[in-house]
Amino acid sequence: MPANRSDYDHKRRRNDRPGYSDTVRSTIITGASRGLGAALVDECLLAGDRVLALSRRFRDHPPADGPPSGRPPPGRLVLRPTDLADPASLPTAAELAAFLGRDPASAIMLVHNAGVFEPFGPIGSLDAAAVRTAVAVNLTAPMLLTNTLLSCPLRDRQLTVVYISSSAAHQVGGGRSVYGSTKRAGELFFETLAMEHQDDPRVRVIIADPGIMDTDMQATVREHALHDAYFPGRERFIARHQRGELPSPARVARQLLTSWRQ
Ligand SMILES: NC(=O)c1ccc[n+]([C@@H]2O[C@H](COP(=O)([O-])OP(=O)(O)OC[C@H]3O[C@@H](n4cnc5c(N)ncnc54)[C@H](OP(=O)(O)O)[C@@H]3O)[C@@H](O)[C@H]2O)c1
Repeated sequence: MPANRSDYDHKRRRNDRPGYSDTVRSTIITGASRGLGAALVDECLLAGDRVLALSRRFRDHPPADGPPSGRPPPGRLVLRPTDLADPASLPTAAELAAFLGRDPASAIMLVHNAGVFEPFGPIGSLDAAAVRTAVAVNLTAPMLLTNTLLSCPLRDRQLTVVYISSSAAHQVGGGRSVYGSTKRAGELFFETLAMEHQDDPRVRVIIADPGIMDTDMQATVREHALHDAYFPGRERFIARHQRGELPSPARVARQLLTSWRQ
């Protein structure tokens, strides 16, 4: 079940506060090509946001349940090719500031969604390049991007920073050492961000576990669960898929955005 780590959500704001719901939000989403990230982009566009999508690649067709016109109005969606494994590929403060504009009433949301599950396996067998990539995508890129955004002149604008984590951050399970470690370290970074801004009513930090959902990442997890007896609790992942219990990323995105915007 999708869940916010609301214990770190120090400043829950309501949509009906002045300057929040009636203005165009500027939303930055990583990992926008598929899965939860693509669904979040669709939902944010439907809600009227301006969206900066950071991805290595992008869909070349509108989603089936996307905007009625098929494509968002010009300027509402900026597709910015980014390899999150390469810090040099991340947007600069000047680029972010140009996207955000200067409207003081326009709220800002940054969603660190991109993630990689690999490498899976016992420590000692891990591919070194895959370890570096996982740390870069799951941890370093969210740290650097947040640091860059907070260096921009945000003035009195409302800022919500979301880190998409996983229950794996809190389970010591064989084979998932890298994925779980990066998510747990990411949580600590964003808990620290929340602490640093606990007296700042403009800044809200959310750590969200979307729960198991029907995406490519979950298919990768299932592959390991099917073929690798080393995977603890492997039957649960296979059975939930066989019973058709995995929610679509579109459904999860709607639930998450509804809760983040309350
Ligand atoms: N699926 C689940 O059951 C589940 C459960 C708990 C938590 N989560 C978390 O939810 C988030 C979304 O997961 P998902 O299931 O939607 O994953 P997914 O289907 O595998 O999609 C991952 C996204 O991250 C992007 N990405 C990966 N490496 C990248 C890189 N180097 N540079 C730029 N983008 C990169 C991918 O883009 P490319 O197309 O370029 O690869 C893709 O858009 C992740 O943080 C994940 O840890 C997922």
